[in-house]
Amino acid sequence: MKSDLPAGVTLDEGRGGLPRLTVATDLCTAELYLHGAHLCHWQPRRHPHPVLWMSQASLFETGAPIRGGVPVCFPWFGPNAAGPAAPAHGVVRIAEWALDRVETERDGTTAIVLSLASDAGTRAAAPQDFSLAYAVRLGEALSMALTVTNPAGAPLTFEEALHTYFTVSDVRQVSVEGLAGATFVDKTDGGKRKTQDDPVITISSETDRLYLNTATTVTLTDPGFGRRITVSKTGSLSSVVWNPWIAKSRAMPDFGDDEWPAMICIETVNALDNAVTLRPGASHTMTAAISLS
Ligand code: BG6
Repeated sequence: MKSDLPAGVTLDEGRGGLPRLTVATDLCTAELYLHGAHLCHWQPRRHPHPVLWMSQASLFETGAPIRGGVPVCFPWFGPNAAGPAAPAHGVVRIAEWALDRVETERDGTTAIVLSLASDAGTRAAAPQDFSLAYAVRLGEALSMALTVTNPAGAPLTFEEALHTYFTVSDVRQVSVEGLAGATFVDKTDGGKRKTQDDPVITISSETDRLYLNTATTVTLTDPGFGRRITVSKTGSLSSVVWNPWIAKSRAMPDFGDDEWPAMICIETVNALDNAVTLRPGASHTMTAAISLS
């Protein structure tokens, strides 16, 4: 693969010795680890701040998730109710993905395709058989497309997320729009179902909301950085808005105690009522497109 890489893309050992693709083109800089197919950095050239947030306390270790960037969650979202010892957010964010292709598109966008199929390692925690393809396109905009194929003879039911962490100037000053009227599961209030009455979401305490049955575009307005981030999606009916605030940040060993003001997650998801079931041989694609204005 190494010799086939286009100009501006290198494959080397990143933090913890893990294989990492580094992109430095006229359009953007980016870093993607094969561990978890984890995008850790993306910044269009014309923008002064990174778009994706990374924790300074993140681990970069086989068997552990990376904290920040875009974890790929599959085949469950959050803790596994049926197997509390199984890793949170599924098994693929801690698996080593294969790098299938890297190409430069006509406009200079770098297109990366990775894949992962169930094997003895994933089956240890997740019995399901699956085949995943993940396409990441890095340019002035970012797009991610996760395609799940069911290779088995029985239906495959799964949850999934592109768990995007965004860098913000101060989470207390940002506003999130696009979810008005949606029902959400409030994980900070015992999982109660509530309605998003206020069209503008602001963050003033721990926030952990799984919005259901919503396909809408979500925007994040950050006056401090003078930018708006737009998250549009297809094949996804759930969205998550998450900031751990003070106590939860302290409780997470791979999250700095004082890092919470600088991040917010707006995640493109299918979970709970929106879990997907695929018949044998069928495929499903979920996409998230991120742009800045
Ligand atoms: C969010 C969940 O998506 O991810 C939160 O809604 C969770 O409940 C957060 O705390 C981080 O999860 P993890 O497994 O990466 O610590």
